[in-house]
Amino acid sequence: MNERILVVDDEQDIRRSLEIVLGGEGFRVVCAGDGEEALASVEAEPPAAVFLDIELPRLNGMEVLRRLRTQRPDLPVVMFTGHGTIERAVEATRLGAFEFVEKPFSRDRILLLARNAIETGRLRELARLRAAEVDDLVGESAPMDALRETITRVAPTNARVLILGESGTGKELVARVLHRLSSRVEKPFVRVNCAAIANDLIEAELFGAVKGAYTGSVAAREGRFAAADGGTLFLDEVGDMSLAAQAKVLRVLQEGEYEPVGSTRTTKVDVRVLAATNQDLPGRVAAGLFRADLLFRLNVIPIVVPPLRERIGDVRLLGELFLARCAARDELPAPRLQAESWRILEAYAWPGNIRELKNIIERLVILRRGAEVGPEALPMEMTRQTPDSATSSPAATASPHRGLPLPEVLEAVERDLIQAALDRHKGSVARAAAELGVERTRLHKRISALGLSGE
Ligand SMILES: Nc1ncnc2c1ncn2[C@@H]1O[C@H](COP(=O)(O)OP(=O)(O)O)[C@@H](O)[C@H]1O
Ligand SMILES: [Mg+2]
Repeated sequence: MNERILVVDDEQDIRRSLEIVLGGEGFRVVCAGDGEEALASVEAEPPAAVFLDIELPRLNGMEVLRRLRTQRPDLPVVMFTGHGTIERAVEATRLGAFEFVEKPFSRDRILLLARNAIETGRLRELARLRAAEVDDLVGESAPMDALRETITRVAPTNARVLILGESGTGKELVARVLHRLSSRVEKPFVRVNCAAIANDLIEAELFGAVKGAYTGSVAAREGRFAAADGGTLFLDEVGDMSLAAQAKVLRVLQEGEYEPVGSTRTTKVDVRVLAATNQDLPGRVAAGLFRADLLFRLNVIPIVVPPLRERIGDVRLLGELFLARCAARDELPAPRLQAESWRILEAYAWPGNIRELKNIIERLVILRRGAEVGPEALPMEMTRQTPDSATSSPAATASPHRGLPLPEVLEAVERDLIQAALDRHKGSVARAAAELGVERTRLHKRISALGLSGE
């Protein structure tokens, strides 16, 4: 127990006595003598609870409370009341103060309040994190309802989950939600993209290495299993892991222990493992590329994330959401899609699933030419019914970029090409760079400039 508690009072004696009482019970006590200082301290390092006097120089306690309530709604604030301020303390609880305590106070009352306040703050934060994440998994179609139900049942357990589905369907999001809804929520969620790590480095990446364990290793390195201790390790694109790495992962799953590279010291970890792939794992087992025993260990509970074309009803819902989010992020007005545009989006097969929808919407917001998006502004591959009708009807293949400034067109094309290469190589920037014939560092720069995501 070494949670941080902020004590705000202009009287040094009060600060001292709280420091002794709370410090004696193992809390880390920080003090502030006025309102401004209190807000700065919360900003610099948020405490788990605040004890706050009502009468303060510079910024009074009620105002500090009001600001803390809007900035950090989860943070519990206990108000001190001196002589004649009881009424205002009652008012403060109405404003959202956790409790108030009258001066002079007893040691026991302070300790009880501190413990209760911290516990309440933790529960508030948990509730908020959970609500936010479940909301994030948007979709009202039957397959999404079923998915959410499975997630709610599986998340609180320690069971391993293998998340299956096409690229861009939301597998990583599902993994994050599983973590958020588990008792491990306050411990790390660590993702490893198995497709993006070179075979000879994956062991050190996962298990860590002692200094000098391999050429070029100048310092000891912490592995991802250790980083995830107490929390969740997400093995993304697990179907792409080499057979050698598979053997080592299998051992951790069986025995919960491993040795870092170059070390003989066995390390134990408490990690929940989630894995995801868009590969046909039984097929890879049959082909000798994936270990049957590892598949068996990972696949305790399979969760299949349906492709977007099987939940067409969600296209509009997700589309509207991305329109609003994207516009808000770039501080641009959100365009409105005409009914015909929605009809086209709903008829499209979405090979890149939700990621593709998100990218397209992003482009519409950035390249927007007016308040309404008609069918002609949609990408060609959507409006073209079949390759035949496309060639026979020049109008259908007219460039969606017509009339736009060249730099915007180039950027849109670049964005699509880079995203497609990243998708093909499962997020590996190194491999995408090789395919596109550019330097890896240059590609990294373009990825962040264009707001794409890669490893
Ligand atoms: N149900 C959903 N609601 C909202 N956004 C989603 C949903 N599913 C996926 N996304 C978004 O789509 C993108 C692709 O999802 P991701 O989890 O990376 O897919 P995958 O890992 O299956 O390739 C991400 O930006 C993710 O936030
Ligand atoms: Mg993914």
